[in-house]
Amino acid sequence: MPQTPAAKTPARIPATLIPGDGIGPEIVDAALAALDALGAPFEWDRQIAGLEGVKSAGDPLPTATLASIRRTRLALKGPLETPSAGGYRSSNVRLREEFQLYANLRPAVTIVPGGRFDNIDLVVVRENLEGLYIGHEHYIKIDDDPHAVAMATGVNTRQGSRRLLEFAFAHAVATGRKKVTIVHKANIMKALTGIFLETGLELYERKFKGKFVLETVIIDACAMKLVLNPWQFDVLVTTNLFGDILSDLVAGLVGGLGMTPGGNIGADAAIFEAVHGSAPDIAGKGIANPTALLLAAAMMLDHCRLQDKAARLRAAISAALNVDNVKTGDLGGKSTTAEFTRALVARINNS
Ligand code: NAI
Repeated sequence: MPQTPAAKTPARIPATLIPGDGIGPEIVDAALAALDALGAPFEWDRQIAGLEGVKSAGDPLPTATLASIRRTRLALKGPLETPSAGGYRSSNVRLREEFQLYANLRPAVTIVPGGRFDNIDLVVVRENLEGLYIGHEHYIKIDDDPHAVAMATGVNTRQGSRRLLEFAFAHAVATGRKKVTIVHKANIMKALTGIFLETGLELYERKFKGKFVLETVIIDACAMKLVLNPWQFDVLVTTNLFGDILSDLVAGLVGGLGMTPGGNIGADAAIFEAVHGSAPDIAGKGIANPTALLLAAAMMLDHCRLQDKAARLRAAISAALNVDNVKTGDLGGKSTTAEFTRALVARINNS
């Protein structure tokens, strides 16, 4: 995986911290407690964005936040709220664009056994900057209906597809994965997703042949196969919108959105976060599951070549959940975020 300049493991690692909206501050507190217990050398610069940015600075992505990430090139971020259909554009999408975070790495690993599916160990690698997410959308007015027709344009480029596919293939090799599956819809969107498929096949032949098995699958069939037999997959690599949907599906295989982290990675910056959103329905109740953000913090430690601390964090999460049986409501337990955090910190201190 490309490393940021911060990955040289200096004594202190400057990093931006965005607590975010909804349950964000609650789960970020849990992550900070765990990272402190691990003695992680991050030097946090706390910033705001999303709804909190609008409320406090009149901007969902304030200049100070951008300046901070421009300096640190590394961030841990809580979820940011985005209004649906109208309102400001997603701060998440803008952050990815601003720092050219073209790869979205979303691993899904079973931590709590006994769910609907056991022993899941999948990675979704999602293209993060192109496709139907570029926001080129408009309405056409007919008669007195200003929204009579809605149009969206998707853009995938050869260069954008290639760098993402190269990232996914290199990640598969570096982490000893056996199979990579390119997910597409080139039978219908022949140009938009055909270019991604074509580029992947060409790249594999030219540079990666024999290093892992390459398969291709159409997105709809992939969704069905993931539910029937997820173990047939290893690394899934796909375009922006498909990757967004598939990574939520895959999160469902390992106990839900509370269990899946994500890394947004570019050539010289990286932002780590939970896959889930701000969960406004449970915000402020102290019952959110911080595991996804904790696993994102573990990815951040890996990224900074602090693999020993990352391994201790993952082991402590597993022990708190499975041995101490301290689980939040989404995992069928009754514990609060604070109770889980206390159990986790105790596990870290004893590791
Ligand atoms: P959501 O992921 O916030 O919530 C979906 C469901 O999962 C809710 O029932 C929620 O309570 C539950 N859930 C999510 N995380 C949980 C956790 N850690 N522990 C326990 N339960 C959890 O998705 P939703 O409601 O569609 O989006 C809410 C807001 O979040 C929207 O404004 C959306 O734009 C934003 N969002 C932000 C993301 C980001 O910052 N990366 C990603 C996804 C959504």
